[in-house]
Amino acid sequence: MNERRTPDGKTAYLEAGTGRPLVLVHGFPLSKAMWRPQLDALAGSARVLAVDLPGFGGSRGFDGPPSVEAMADRVAEFLDALQIREPAVLGGLSMGGYVTLAFARRHAARLRGLVLADTKADADDDTGKANRDKMIALVNESGPRVVIEQMLPKLLGADTVARRPAVAEEVRAIGAAQPAAAIADALRAMRDRPDATPGLSAVSVPTLVVVGEQDALTPPMKAEELGRAIRGAKVQVIPGAGHMANLEDPEAFNAAVRAFLGRLGC
Ligand code: MLT
Repeated sequence: MNERRTPDGKTAYLEAGTGRPLVLVHGFPLSKAMWRPQLDALAGSARVLAVDLPGFGGSRGFDGPPSVEAMADRVAEFLDALQIREPAVLGGLSMGGYVTLAFARRHAARLRGLVLADTKADADDDTGKANRDKMIALVNESGPRVVIEQMLPKLLGADTVARRPAVAEEVRAIGAAQPAAAIADALRAMRDRPDATPGLSAVSVPTLVVVGEQDALTPPMKAEELGRAIRGAKVQVIPGAGHMANLEDPEAFNAAVRAFLGRLGC
């Protein structure tokens, strides 16, 4: 599948299918490439658009200071650039979920539904912020490969590590290919993101919360919290998957999203 770019040149994306837009936002420190198992599989249900956040993959970096709000605004610019006026379903995994929740706060009228995968609403605590600073220093000194090696054990579930080593290779390859500047900017954006919890009660579109049963970074308990706070949200746990549920068990992940799109009438 070939990379495309918006006419303004800012955002690189992959596209498959037609109909209701489903925009997918990647996790950290990855790119739109992590959605390859979703693109063709969901193309029969929606117009699937997987975007690169600022600086990742083929997208241009931030126009101003990095923040999850600026990431969300870039997604809105992306919709404008493609002249997509109808409300879209927005889905994000982990960091992509932080961006999706920021989009819901800032561009609610452009939403038809939300998919929140392996993510959470709360902000970083002091320890989390200090770890972001350590990782910024690490990526600046040692580069992206070292960062993805450090993260990999937490990204995948034990079952995946034991039975599907190709998934680890794929995540490693995507992470190692990202520019150090994009990784450092995303770390700053995540470190400084606000607590999204107060905005959850204002979400008024249908929401699917998906989580890998073995997710060590944003465990099922975090998904349950989202599910309780967002009116009518459905929580689906994917057995045997970790934090990268869409890559670890694409069939179960795609089935959950397909069923959700079906309920929306897509
Ligand atoms: C991600 O997968 O996007 C990250 O684990 C998010 C984070 O570090 O908070």
